[in-house]
Amino acid sequence: MSYSRNPRGVEKLDLHQDAALSLQGGSARRTVESRYCPLVSEDRYTHGHHESVLRSHRWRTAENSAAFLLPHLETDFNLLDVGCGPGNITADLAQLVPGGSVTGIDRSAEVVARAQVEFASHTGGNLRFEQGDVYRLRFPDDQFDVVFAHQVLQHLTRPIEAIREMRRVTKPGGVVAVRDADFGAFVWAPDDPTLDSWMDIYHQLTRRNGAEADAGRKLKGWVHSAGFRDLKVSSSNWTFSTDSERSWWGGLWADRVTESDFARQSIEYGLCGPADLASFAAAFRRWVNEPDGVFIVVNIECLARK
Ligand SMILES: C[S@@+](CC[C@H](N)C(=O)[O-])C[C@H]1O[C@@H](n2cnc3c(N)ncnc32)[C@H](O)[C@@H]1O
Repeated sequence: MSYSRNPRGVEKLDLHQDAALSLQGGSARRTVESRYCPLVSEDRYTHGHHESVLRSHRWRTAENSAAFLLPHLETDFNLLDVGCGPGNITADLAQLVPGGSVTGIDRSAEVVARAQVEFASHTGGNLRFEQGDVYRLRFPDDQFDVVFAHQVLQHLTRPIEAIREMRRVTKPGGVVAVRDADFGAFVWAPDDPTLDSWMDIYHQLTRRNGAEADAGRKLKGWVHSAGFRDLKVSSSNWTFSTDSERSWWGGLWADRVTESDFARQSIEYGLCGPADLASFAAAFRRWVNEPDGVFIVVNIECLARK
């Protein structure tokens, strides 16, 4: 595979090597060449992979982020984790299917390379990471028992198309499991008008990227539109309240609003300036020091059977 950069700095992946592979697809043997376009999508990911962003993603576990899926796993399942980021949930899931396998894919070559190194010594031997695009999965139809995407659909310009592609590679009877936050439903205390402004800028920025900050409430409709009829919707929160929880969550957001792609893109689009970003960071640090502070991240999840 080879990588290049387009003018927007988005990585492109040349899949010609993979395209040359022939895949067994039911009765007919077909090549991926005709089906898969060689480039990854050009959606713009709002957060990027700055350390302050990965600090948040690395905290995630199967238990705190995929509890709705766990009762449906069997130990020999083959699972695909789409948009796996640094791979912490992916690696957790691999431990739960010791007789099966877990493949994590992400559009970012950089984050995939880091996950490959970080989990190189994973003991199960059933975990792999590779670069890939949810819109054009390189896998044949009906391959996986479970296809999972956590906090990914909210960042896409074509979430329904992505779910259709996830459905394609799911076995009949298998499940597509998706979970996304709903930024508009976040709750925090005490009130702080500067945090309201941060939320407003976040919505403007994601709209500008063609993404959906309030994805959680839209998941059910997207999954329906992608062709599923058998689906179950639930919700679960992340709650940050204790001193150490506030310090971790508020601290990483104070860094994210000044150092991650959120900061770069907000300025590039003219949505706000460095002084505004500094005020958002100060607001998060104030919140950390509020003994009665609480922040609740509302997540909505959907389990859909093919
Ligand atoms: C918010 S992160 C979630 C990471 C991980 N699932 C987790 O919950 O910790 C979203 C990830 O989706 C990836 N992503 C964005 N667009 C994608 C696409 N079209 N195909 C595959 N991955 C994509 C990003 O690179 C990023 O790592």
